[in-house]
Amino acid sequence: MLEKLILENFKSHKSTELNFDSSRLHGLVGKNSAGKTSVLQALHNLSRLTGQNSSFARIFQYERSPNFITTVGKTDMSVTASGFWGYNNRQNWQAAYAWKQDNNDKWYPTASCNIDEKEYSEQGWTGSLSNSPDAIRNSLKYAVYLKLVASNLAKPAYSDEVTTRVEFDGSGLAPTLDFLRDEAPDKFQLIEEMLSRIVPNVRKIGIRRAKVPVIRQRLIEVDGRSISYDETQEITGQEIVLDMNTGERIPAHAISEGTMLTLGLLTVLMNPNQPNLVLLDDIEQGLHPQAQRQLMTVFKEIIAQTSNLQIIFSTHSPYIIDEISHSQVHILNNSNSGFTIAKRLDEHPDVEWAKETLTTGEFWDAEGEDWVVEGEVSA
Ligand SMILES: Nc1ncnc2c1ncn2[C@@H]1O[C@H](COP(=O)(O)OP(=O)(O)OP(=O)(O)O)[C@@H](O)[C@H]1O
Ligand SMILES: [Mg+2]
Repeated sequence: MLEKLILENFKSHKSTELNFDSSRLHGLVGKNSAGKTSVLQALHNLSRLTGQNSSFARIFQYERSPNFITTVGKTDMSVTASGFWGYNNRQNWQAAYAWKQDNNDKWYPTASCNIDEKEYSEQGWTGSLSNSPDAIRNSLKYAVYLKLVASNLAKPAYSDEVTTRVEFDGSGLAPTLDFLRDEAPDKFQLIEEMLSRIVPNVRKIGIRRAKVPVIRQRLIEVDGRSISYDETQEITGQEIVLDMNTGERIPAHAISEGTMLTLGLLTVLMNPNQPNLVLLDDIEQGLHPQAQRQLMTVFKEIIAQTSNLQIIFSTHSPYIIDEISHSQVHILNNSNSGFTIAKRLDEHPDVEWAKETLTTGEFWDAEGEDWVVEGEVSA
Protein backbone atom coordinates (compact mmCIF):
# COMPACT_ATOMS: atom_id res chain seq x y z
CA MET A 1 0.00 0.00 0.00
CA LEU A 2 1.31 3.38 -0.98
CA GLU A 3 1.21 5.88 1.90
CA LYS A 4 3.40 8.78 0.87
CA LEU A 5 4.72 10.32 -2.33
CA ILE A 6 7.37 13.04 -2.50
CA LEU A 7 8.12 14.81 -5.77
CA GLU A 8 11.21 17.03 -5.99
CA ASN A 9 11.63 19.05 -9.20
CA PHE A 10 9.26 16.80 -11.13
CA LYS A 11 7.63 19.02 -13.79
CA SER A 12 5.67 21.72 -11.90
CA HIS A 13 6.30 19.99 -8.55
CA LYS A 14 9.22 21.74 -6.90
CA SER A 15 8.60 19.98 -3.61
CA THR A 16 5.27 18.22 -3.16
CA GLU A 17 4.36 15.72 -0.46
CA LEU A 18 1.15 13.70 -0.64
CA ASN A 19 0.03 11.56 2.31
CA PHE A 20 -2.59 8.98 1.44
CA ASP A 21 -5.04 7.85 4.13
CA SER A 22 -5.98 4.21 4.71
CA SER A 23 -9.11 4.29 2.50
CA ARG A 24 -7.21 3.11 -0.62
CA LEU A 25 -9.30 5.52 -2.73
CA HIS A 26 -7.83 8.99 -3.27
CA GLY A 27 -8.86 11.92 -5.46
CA LEU A 28 -6.68 14.69 -6.89
CA VAL A 29 -8.41 17.96 -7.74
CA GLY A 30 -7.23 21.39 -8.87
CA LYS A 31 -7.30 23.82 -11.76
CA ASN A 32 -6.04 22.92 -15.21
CA SER A 33 -2.25 22.63 -15.22
CA ALA A 34 -2.11 22.32 -11.40
CA GLY A 35 -0.06 19.12 -11.67
CA LYS A 36 -2.59 16.28 -11.20
CA THR A 37 -1.67 14.23 -14.26
CA SER A 38 2.01 14.72 -13.36
CA VAL A 39 1.47 12.99 -10.00
CA LEU A 40 -0.04 9.99 -11.76
CA GLN A 41 2.80 9.94 -14.30
CA ALA A 42 5.47 10.07 -11.59
CA LEU A 43 3.91 7.03 -9.93
CA HIS A 44 3.41 5.21 -13.19
CA ASN A 45 7.11 5.66 -14.03
CA LEU A 46 8.07 4.26 -10.64
CA SER A 47 5.79 1.29 -11.07
CA ARG A 48 7.23 0.57 -14.52
CA LEU A 49 10.74 0.62 -13.06
CA THR A 50 9.74 -2.20 -10.69
CA GLY A 51 8.40 -4.32 -13.58
CA GLN A 52 10.18 -7.28 -15.14
CA ASN A 53 12.88 -6.46 -17.69
CA SER A 54 12.53 -2.76 -17.01
CA SER A 55 15.33 -0.21 -17.19
CA PHE A 56 15.62 3.56 -17.35
CA ALA A 57 16.56 3.28 -21.00
CA ARG A 58 13.37 1.42 -21.83
CA ILE A 59 11.03 3.58 -19.79
CA PHE A 60 12.37 7.10 -20.28
CA GLN A 61 12.89 7.71 -23.93
CA TYR A 62 11.82 10.38 -26.39
CA GLU A 63 9.57 12.94 -24.68
CA ARG A 64 9.99 11.22 -21.34
CA SER A 65 13.69 11.93 -21.27
CA PRO A 66 14.95 13.52 -18.02
CA ASN A 67 15.12 17.09 -19.27
CA PHE A 68 11.37 16.96 -19.97
CA ILE A 69 10.32 15.57 -16.64
CA THR A 70 12.73 17.65 -14.57
CA THR A 71 11.55 21.16 -13.73
CA VAL A 72 12.94 23.53 -16.36
CA GLY A 73 16.25 24.99 -15.18
CA LYS A 74 16.87 22.33 -12.51
CA THR A 75 19.67 19.81 -12.67
CA ASP A 76 18.25 17.12 -10.42
CA MET A 77 14.91 15.46 -9.82
CA SER A 78 13.56 12.74 -7.57
CA VAL A 79 10.37 10.77 -7.01
CA THR A 80 10.15 8.92 -3.69
CA ALA A 81 7.29 6.68 -2.62
CA SER A 82 6.83 4.86 0.64
CA GLY A 83 4.30 2.54 2.15
CA PHE A 84 3.82 -0.91 3.58
CA TRP A 85 2.89 -4.43 2.53
CA GLY A 86 1.09 -7.10 4.58
CA TYR A 87 -1.14 -6.48 7.57
CA ASN A 88 -0.09 -9.08 10.16
CA ASN A 89 3.48 -9.14 9.01
CA ARG A 90 3.82 -5.50 8.03
CA GLN A 91 6.90 -4.50 6.07
CA ASN A 92 7.62 -0.81 5.56
CA TRP A 93 9.22 0.11 2.27
CA GLN A 94 10.57 3.05 0.33
CA ALA A 95 11.31 3.20 -3.40
CA ALA A 96 12.71 6.05 -5.46
CA TYR A 97 14.15 7.14 -8.76
CA ALA A 98 16.26 10.23 -9.30
CA TRP A 99 18.23 12.05 -11.99
CA LYS A 100 21.24 14.32 -11.75
CA GLN A 101 22.86 16.30 -14.51
CA ASP A 102 26.65 16.47 -14.50
CA ASN A 103 28.96 19.25 -15.76
CA ASN A 104 28.84 17.83 -19.29
CA ASP A 105 25.03 18.11 -19.33
CA LYS A 106 24.70 14.33 -19.12
CA TRP A 107 21.88 12.90 -17.01
CA TYR A 108 22.55 10.06 -14.57
CA PRO A 109 19.63 8.07 -13.27
CA THR A 110 19.58 6.25 -9.94
CA ALA A 111 16.98 3.81 -8.66
CA SER A 112 16.98 2.92 -5.00
CA CYS A 113 14.84 1.27 -2.38
CA ASN A 114 14.96 -0.05 1.12
CA ILE A 115 12.93 -2.34 3.27
CA ASP A 116 13.52 -3.25 6.90
CA GLU A 117 16.92 -1.58 6.62
CA LYS A 118 17.95 -3.61 3.57
CA GLU A 119 19.24 -1.12 1.00
CA TYR A 120 19.27 -1.70 -2.72
CA SER A 121 20.29 0.66 -5.48
CA GLU A 122 21.19 0.69 -9.17
CA GLN A 123 22.64 3.43 -11.32
CA GLY A 124 22.80 4.26 -15.00
CA TRP A 125 20.58 3.65 -17.99
CA THR A 126 20.47 -0.09 -17.39
CA GLY A 127 19.32 0.44 -13.78
CA SER A 128 15.85 -0.45 -12.55
CA LEU A 129 13.94 -1.70 -9.52
CA SER A 130 13.08 -5.10 -11.06
CA ASN A 131 14.97 -6.86 -8.29
CA SER A 132 13.49 -4.87 -5.44
CA PRO A 133 11.85 -6.86 -2.60
CA ASP A 134 8.38 -8.38 -3.12
CA ALA A 135 6.73 -5.88 -0.77
CA ILE A 136 7.64 -3.02 -3.12
CA ARG A 137 6.91 -4.80 -6.36
CA ASN A 138 3.56 -6.02 -5.01
CA SER A 139 2.49 -2.59 -3.78
CA LEU A 140 3.25 -1.02 -7.14
CA LYS A 141 2.34 -4.08 -9.22
CA TYR A 142 0.91 -3.41 -12.65
CA ALA A 143 0.10 0.16 -11.65
CA VAL A 144 -2.00 0.88 -14.66
CA TYR A 145 -2.22 4.49 -15.74
CA LEU A 146 -5.42 4.86 -17.67
CA LYS A 147 -6.48 7.62 -19.95
CA LEU A 148 -9.25 5.64 -21.55
CA VAL A 149 -10.47 6.74 -24.95
CA ALA A 150 -13.98 5.60 -25.84
CA SER A 151 -13.19 5.06 -29.52
CA ASN A 152 -10.31 2.69 -28.63
CA LEU A 153 -12.51 0.76 -26.23
CA ALA A 154 -15.07 0.30 -28.98
CA LYS A 155 -12.60 -0.97 -31.60
CA PRO A 156 -12.70 -4.63 -32.57
CA ALA A 157 -9.42 -6.20 -31.48
CA TYR A 158 -7.57 -9.49 -31.29
CA SER A 159 -4.98 -10.77 -28.86
CA ASP A 160 -2.52 -13.63 -29.06
CA GLU A 161 -1.55 -13.28 -25.38
CA VAL A 162 -2.46 -16.07 -22.96
CA THR A 163 -3.98 -13.56 -20.53
CA THR A 164 -5.23 -10.42 -22.17
CA ARG A 165 -5.51 -6.97 -20.63
CA VAL A 166 -6.89 -3.56 -21.42
CA GLU A 167 -4.06 -1.23 -22.46
CA PHE A 168 -3.61 2.25 -20.97
CA ASP A 169 -5.45 3.89 -23.87
CA GLY A 170 -8.37 1.48 -23.77
CA SER A 171 -7.40 -0.85 -26.61
CA GLY A 172 -7.83 -4.58 -26.12
CA LEU A 173 -11.15 -4.39 -24.27
CA ALA A 174 -13.02 -6.92 -26.42
CA PRO A 175 -10.44 -9.77 -26.16
CA THR A 176 -10.08 -9.10 -22.41
CA LEU A 177 -13.83 -9.45 -21.86
CA ASP A 178 -13.87 -12.54 -24.07
CA PHE A 179 -11.12 -14.04 -21.89
CA LEU A 180 -13.02 -13.19 -18.69
CA ARG A 181 -16.26 -14.67 -20.01
CA ASP A 182 -14.52 -18.03 -20.55
CA GLU A 183 -12.01 -18.09 -17.69
CA ALA A 184 -13.71 -16.09 -14.93
CA PRO A 185 -17.47 -16.10 -15.62
CA ASP A 186 -18.24 -14.87 -12.09
CA LYS A 187 -16.17 -11.72 -12.72
CA PHE A 188 -17.79 -11.27 -16.11
CA GLN A 189 -21.22 -11.38 -14.49
CA LEU A 190 -20.16 -8.87 -11.83
CA ILE A 191 -18.95 -6.47 -14.52
CA GLU A 192 -22.31 -6.80 -16.25
CA GLU A 193 -24.21 -6.14 -13.01
CA MET A 194 -22.07 -3.15 -12.04
CA LEU A 195 -22.30 -1.66 -15.54
CA SER A 196 -26.09 -1.78 -15.53
CA ARG A 197 -26.14 -0.14 -12.12
CA ILE A 198 -24.10 2.79 -13.43
CA VAL A 199 -25.79 2.92 -16.85
CA PRO A 200 -29.27 1.48 -16.27
CA ASN A 201 -30.00 1.15 -20.02
CA VAL A 202 -27.55 -1.74 -20.29
CA ARG A 203 -29.02 -5.27 -20.11
CA LYS A 204 -26.28 -7.63 -21.21
CA ILE A 205 -22.68 -7.66 -22.49
CA GLY A 206 -21.92 -9.78 -25.53
CA ILE A 207 -18.86 -10.40 -27.67
CA ARG A 208 -18.92 -11.42 -31.31
CA ARG A 209 -16.32 -12.27 -33.90
CA ALA A 210 -15.21 -9.37 -36.05
CA LYS A 211 -12.58 -8.58 -38.68
CA VAL A 212 -9.62 -6.61 -37.33
CA PRO A 213 -7.14 -4.88 -39.64
CA VAL A 214 -3.56 -5.63 -38.55
CA ILE A 215 -0.48 -3.99 -40.05
CA ARG A 216 2.48 -6.35 -40.35
CA GLN A 217 5.98 -5.56 -41.51
CA ARG A 218 7.22 -7.67 -44.45
CA LEU A 219 10.65 -7.92 -46.04
CA ILE A 220 11.31 -8.35 -49.74
CA GLU A 221 14.65 -8.87 -51.45
CA VAL A 222 15.40 -6.51 -54.34
CA ASP A 223 18.80 -6.78 -56.02
CA GLY A 224 20.14 -8.52 -52.94
CA ARG A 225 18.93 -5.80 -50.58
CA SER A 226 16.15 -6.25 -48.03
CA ILE A 227 13.41 -3.66 -48.17
CA SER A 228 10.66 -3.59 -45.55
CA TYR A 229 7.10 -2.59 -46.25
CA ASP A 230 3.82 -2.59 -44.32
CA GLU A 231 1.09 -4.99 -45.27
CA THR A 232 -2.42 -4.72 -43.91
CA GLN A 233 -4.06 -8.04 -43.13
CA GLU A 234 -7.45 -8.88 -41.79
CA ILE A 235 -7.53 -11.11 -38.74
CA THR A 236 -10.54 -12.47 -36.93
CA GLY A 237 -10.80 -10.83 -33.53
CA GLN A 238 -13.61 -9.75 -31.26
CA GLU A 239 -15.99 -6.86 -30.96
CA ILE A 240 -18.24 -5.91 -28.03
CA VAL A 241 -22.00 -5.83 -28.54
CA LEU A 242 -24.39 -4.67 -25.84
CA ASP A 243 -28.04 -5.47 -25.28
CA MET A 244 -29.62 -2.15 -24.36
CA ASN A 245 -33.21 -1.43 -23.48
CA THR A 246 -33.57 0.12 -26.93
CA GLY A 247 -32.37 -2.93 -28.85
CA GLU A 248 -30.23 -6.05 -28.75
CA ARG A 249 -26.66 -6.63 -29.90
CA ILE A 250 -25.76 -3.00 -30.58
CA PRO A 251 -22.09 -2.83 -31.65
CA ALA A 252 -19.65 -0.95 -29.40
CA HIS A 253 -19.01 1.88 -31.88
CA ALA A 254 -22.71 2.80 -31.65
CA ILE A 255 -22.77 2.68 -27.84
CA SER A 256 -22.51 5.91 -25.83
CA GLU A 257 -19.04 7.08 -24.74
CA GLY A 258 -19.83 7.09 -21.02
CA THR A 259 -21.05 3.50 -21.22
CA MET A 260 -17.88 2.32 -22.96
CA LEU A 261 -15.62 4.23 -20.54
CA THR A 262 -17.39 2.68 -17.55
CA LEU A 263 -17.15 -0.78 -19.08
CA GLY A 264 -13.42 -0.21 -19.67
CA LEU A 265 -12.79 0.86 -16.07
CA LEU A 266 -14.77 -2.04 -14.59
CA THR A 267 -12.96 -4.54 -16.79
CA VAL A 268 -9.57 -3.27 -15.63
CA LEU A 269 -10.64 -3.39 -11.98
CA MET A 270 -12.27 -6.83 -12.11
CA ASN A 271 -9.57 -8.58 -14.14
CA PRO A 272 -8.22 -11.56 -12.16
CA ASN A 273 -4.77 -10.42 -13.23
CA GLN A 274 -5.66 -7.30 -11.32
CA PRO A 275 -3.37 -4.38 -10.67
CA ASN A 276 -2.75 -3.33 -7.06
CA LEU A 277 -2.36 0.33 -7.90
CA VAL A 278 -4.73 1.92 -10.42
CA LEU A 279 -4.05 5.46 -11.61
CA LEU A 280 -7.04 7.05 -13.35
CA ASP A 281 -6.87 10.39 -15.09
CA ASP A 282 -10.00 12.54 -15.52
CA ILE A 283 -12.29 9.87 -14.20
CA GLU A 284 -15.67 11.47 -14.88
CA GLN A 285 -15.33 11.84 -18.67
CA GLY A 286 -18.74 11.79 -20.24
CA LEU A 287 -20.64 10.54 -17.19
CA HIS A 288 -23.94 12.00 -15.94
CA PRO A 289 -23.80 13.17 -12.27
CA GLN A 290 -25.92 10.20 -11.19
CA ALA A 291 -23.61 7.82 -13.04
CA GLN A 292 -20.55 9.48 -11.48
CA ARG A 293 -21.97 8.83 -8.02
CA GLN A 294 -22.77 5.23 -8.93
CA LEU A 295 -19.26 4.74 -10.28
CA MET A 296 -17.81 5.80 -6.93
CA THR A 297 -20.14 3.45 -5.06
CA VAL A 298 -18.97 0.61 -7.28
CA PHE A 299 -15.30 1.58 -6.72
CA LYS A 300 -15.84 1.48 -2.97
CA GLU A 301 -17.42 -1.98 -3.23
CA ILE A 302 -14.57 -3.30 -5.36
CA ILE A 303 -12.00 -1.90 -2.91
CA ALA A 304 -13.83 -3.43 0.05
CA GLN A 305 -13.71 -6.84 -1.67
CA THR A 306 -10.10 -6.60 -2.86
CA SER A 307 -7.69 -6.13 0.02
CA ASN A 308 -4.67 -4.86 -1.93
CA LEU A 309 -6.33 -2.61 -4.47
CA GLN A 310 -5.63 1.13 -4.23
CA ILE A 311 -7.05 3.69 -6.65
CA ILE A 312 -5.71 7.22 -7.19
CA PHE A 313 -7.70 9.35 -9.61
CA SER A 314 -7.91 12.93 -10.83
CA THR A 315 -11.23 14.69 -11.36
CA HIS A 316 -12.89 18.05 -11.89
CA SER A 317 -16.27 16.86 -10.61
CA PRO A 318 -17.84 17.80 -7.25
CA TYR A 319 -20.24 14.85 -7.68
CA ILE A 320 -17.28 12.46 -7.55
CA ILE A 321 -15.78 14.31 -4.58
CA ASP A 322 -19.14 14.14 -2.76
CA GLU A 323 -18.72 10.37 -2.53
CA ILE A 324 -15.42 10.48 -0.60
CA SER A 325 -14.39 12.11 2.66
CA HIS A 326 -12.12 15.09 3.32
CA SER A 327 -8.98 13.07 4.02
CA GLN A 328 -9.34 11.37 0.63
CA VAL A 329 -9.26 14.65 -1.32
CA HIS A 330 -5.90 16.14 -2.32
CA ILE A 331 -6.12 19.70 -3.59
CA LEU A 332 -3.39 20.93 -5.92
CA ASN A 333 -2.82 24.54 -6.81
CA ASN A 334 -0.10 26.64 -8.39
CA SER A 335 1.72 29.05 -6.10
CA ASN A 336 2.49 32.58 -7.28
CA SER A 337 5.69 31.34 -8.87
CA GLY A 338 3.72 28.63 -10.70
CA PHE A 339 4.88 25.61 -8.74
CA THR A 340 2.45 23.06 -7.36
CA ILE A 341 1.38 23.14 -3.73
CA ALA A 342 -0.79 20.33 -2.39
CA LYS A 343 -2.93 20.05 0.72
CA ARG A 344 -5.54 17.58 1.86
CA LEU A 345 -9.06 18.92 2.29
CA ASP A 346 -9.00 17.86 5.96
CA GLU A 347 -6.17 20.40 6.49
CA HIS A 348 -8.63 23.25 5.88
CA PRO A 349 -9.16 25.21 9.13
CA ASP A 350 -12.97 25.01 8.81
CA VAL A 351 -13.18 21.31 8.12
CA GLU A 352 -14.97 20.40 11.36
CA TRP A 353 -17.66 23.00 10.68
CA ALA A 354 -17.92 21.86 7.05
CA LYS A 355 -18.37 18.20 8.02
CA GLU A 356 -21.62 19.12 9.75
CA THR A 357 -22.87 21.60 7.19
CA LEU A 358 -21.78 20.68 3.66
CA THR A 359 -21.06 17.67 1.51
CA THR A 360 -17.39 17.18 0.58
CA GLY A 361 -18.05 18.37 -2.97
CA GLU A 362 -19.93 21.45 -1.78
CA PHE A 363 -17.08 22.36 0.59
CA TRP A 364 -14.48 22.06 -2.19
CA ASP A 365 -16.73 24.02 -4.56
CA ALA A 366 -17.24 26.79 -1.98
CA GLU A 367 -13.61 27.06 -0.87
CA GLY A 368 -11.89 26.38 -4.20
CA GLU A 369 -8.11 26.05 -4.26
CA ASP A 370 -6.78 29.45 -3.21
CA TRP A 371 -6.60 28.58 0.50
CA VAL A 372 -3.99 25.94 -0.35
CA VAL A 373 -1.44 28.58 -1.35
CA GLU A 374 -2.27 31.19 1.25
CA GLY A 375 0.21 29.56 3.58
CA GLU A 376 -1.70 30.43 6.71
CA VAL A 377 -3.51 27.15 7.13
CA SER A 378 -2.36 24.62 9.67
CA ALA A 379 -3.90 21.23 10.30
N1 LIG B 1 9.61 20.24 -17.21
C1 LIG B 1 8.72 21.08 -16.68
N2 LIG B 1 9.11 22.09 -15.88
C2 LIG B 1 8.23 22.94 -15.32
N3 LIG B 1 6.91 22.83 -15.48
C3 LIG B 1 6.45 21.84 -16.26
C4 LIG B 1 7.31 20.90 -16.90
N4 LIG B 1 6.58 20.05 -17.62
C5 LIG B 1 5.30 20.42 -17.43
N5 LIG B 1 5.22 21.50 -16.61
C6 LIG B 1 4.00 22.20 -16.17
O1 LIG B 1 3.14 21.28 -15.54
C7 LIG B 1 1.85 21.37 -16.12
C8 LIG B 1 1.32 19.97 -16.32
O2 LIG B 1 0.44 19.75 -15.35
P1 LIG B 1 -0.54 18.51 -15.42
O3 LIG B 1 -0.67 17.96 -16.78
O4 LIG B 1 -0.13 17.58 -14.33
O5 LIG B 1 -1.87 19.32 -15.05
P2 LIG B 1 -3.26 18.78 -14.62
O6 LIG B 1 -3.48 19.19 -13.19
O7 LIG B 1 -3.40 17.36 -14.94
O8 LIG B 1 -4.20 19.69 -15.52
P3 LIG B 1 -5.54 19.32 -16.33
O9 LIG B 1 -6.66 19.48 -15.33
O10 LIG B 1 -5.59 20.40 -17.36
O11 LIG B 1 -5.39 17.97 -16.89
C9 LIG B 1 2.04 21.95 -17.48
O12 LIG B 1 0.90 22.71 -17.86
C10 LIG B 1 3.25 22.80 -17.33
O13 LIG B 1 2.86 24.11 -16.96
MG1 LIG C 1 -4.46 16.34 -16.36
